[in-house]
Amino acid sequence: MSRTFIICKPDAVERGYVGQIIDRFERKGLKLVAGELRQLDEATLSKHYVEHVDKPFYGDLVAFMSRSPAFVGVLEGPDGTYAMVRTLMGPTNPADAPPGTIRGDYGTTMTENLVHGSDSDESAAREIGIFFPGLA
Ligand code: RTP
Ligand code: MG
Repeated sequence: MSRTFIICKPDAVERGYVGQIIDRFERKGLKLVAGELRQLDEATLSKHYVEHVDKPFYGDLVAFMSRSPAFVGVLEGPDGTYAMVRTLMGPTNPADAPPGTIRGDYGTTMTENLVHGSDSDESAAREIGIFFPGLA
């Protein structure tokens, strides 16, 4: 078994797509083991997006991610769960994401791309530690 961290980003919450997004993960066979709406702040986002703090888009990313509540959660499934979640999400830029993926079906712009999913088992463990430190 393995776990991965997800965020339904503020655009997904604002547009009312959290249920449909979680439904896709549940239909796949993954189990939601933690989840809640949370207002994210810059301190938390700078830890989460540590690899992006020096990138030119970081300011826009933080402004977007903190503009209204996000749904943060943890999904559990077989080994490689993080990769299954990334496949269901689609490529980072929704303009390039194929139909059938979350980003392909619901998004048009690079920043407002609806979902986050950890990009490795190591990232998943690190991100779960930031957002759900009580989850062993
Ligand atoms: P995420 O971390 O949110 O799951 O997305 P990702 O792995 O597919 O993409 P990543 O490279 O980690 O980028 C993190 C988020 O930053 C925004 N971004 N904007 N304007 C730009 O060039 C740009 N590049 C990235 C996106 O919201 C992306 O999801
Ligand atoms: Mg990423």
